[in-house]
Amino acid sequence: MKRGKFITFEGGEGAGKSTQAGLLAERLRVAGLGTVVTREPGGTPLGEAVRSLVLDTRPVPVTELLLFAAARAEHVAEVIRPALAHGTWVVCDRFIDSSRVYQGALGGVPRDLIDAIEAGSVAPTFPDLTIVLDLPPETGLQRTASRGALSRFDAESASYHRQLQEGFRTVARAEPERCLLIDADRAPGEIADDVWRAVETRLLAEAR
Ligand code: TYD
Repeated sequence: MKRGKFITFEGGEGAGKSTQAGLLAERLRVAGLGTVVTREPGGTPLGEAVRSLVLDTRPVPVTELLLFAAARAEHVAEVIRPALAHGTWVVCDRFIDSSRVYQGALGGVPRDLIDAIEAGSVAPTFPDLTIVLDLPPETGLQRTASRGALSRFDAESASYHRQLQEGFRTVARAEPERCLLIDADRAPGEIADDVWRAVETRLLAEAR
């Protein structure tokens, strides 16, 4: 059986990752491809527990890294890898690049520790394609504020959100064969069209 493809969405707060993950999954299903949508932190009971733990408390960055990594290891082993092996496509809202940016670039956790943890928990199941939604920090802040209750991550300062944008841009530029940076300061339909074009050219041609 042909392995499914693994696509992740990344970006700062309010970039529209979950909307785009849903729109992409619909298009993949219309194209006849079995698809599951999942998210991090989350995706398994342990992951959902880690999600509440991390969002409700204020662990230091290395603790966050280890908790997110524990959730990710379960997610990869229990959900992502089996689905891909079964020929199902997996669309995931946040993955390794969120740890690289939030805990690494912003939290100061050394990259060699992050790499070692990825090697032990994710490898060889890296994404085939990562869409990085690029949004001006002000727009992201407005969007998360209009949603009502802010998570502790959303409530950080404007300069923090600017660092986040820079962090994701750096991550995307470092791996252009895997990552695509997309301007997310546009209507959801326009963004979804760009995402679909990338999936068609980078993944579908070869999957068919
Ligand atoms: P969530 O409410 O899912 O935010 P969003 O809707 O923006 O995805 O909260 C997840 C938060 O956890 C988000 O602010 C980013 C953070 N996070 C990390 O810091 N590292 C990680 O590895 C992951 C997966 C998420």
